[in-house]
Amino acid sequence: MARDLFEAARDAMAKCHAPYSKFPVGAALRADDGSIHAGANIEVISFPEGWCAETTAISHMIMAGHRKIREVAVIAEKLDLCSPCGGCRQRLAEFSDPGTLVHLCDAEGVKKTLRMDELLPYAFETEVIG
Ligand code: THU
Repeated sequence: MARDLFEAARDAMAKCHAPYSKFPVGAALRADDGSIHAGANIEVISFPEGWCAETTAISHMIMAGHRKIREVAVIAEKLDLCSPCGGCRQRLAEFSDPGTLVHLCDAEGVKKTLRMDELLPYAFETEVIG
């Protein structure tokens, strides 16, 4: 299930820049046209300035001209079923539907799949802005 997305996330993880945490993470998104956009975490010596794999992947998707995520895969070398951090849940939700699938992986493949609205219930959204 979502094997290509898992493989893209795993390959992206190999490109991480995580010399401080030594905690490689990879993420891959499938946009609504079927295209895949991947990313790894990128850290900076001023620690709060680094960012997550999901954020890199979202950046690639946006710059490729897409705005809707159909499904996501996340993998971390040192943690099975690495769940997206709080900030990335909000960023993913920005470009997802409630039913967008979030696949949590281990080294072998997808092991658990959640819907976006399970991962971030009662998300911040309002018509007052925008
Ligand atoms: N990290 C991610 O890339 N995604 C997450 O959802 C959780 C955390 C990264 C950030 C940092 O580079 C390292 O994992 C340790 O927190």
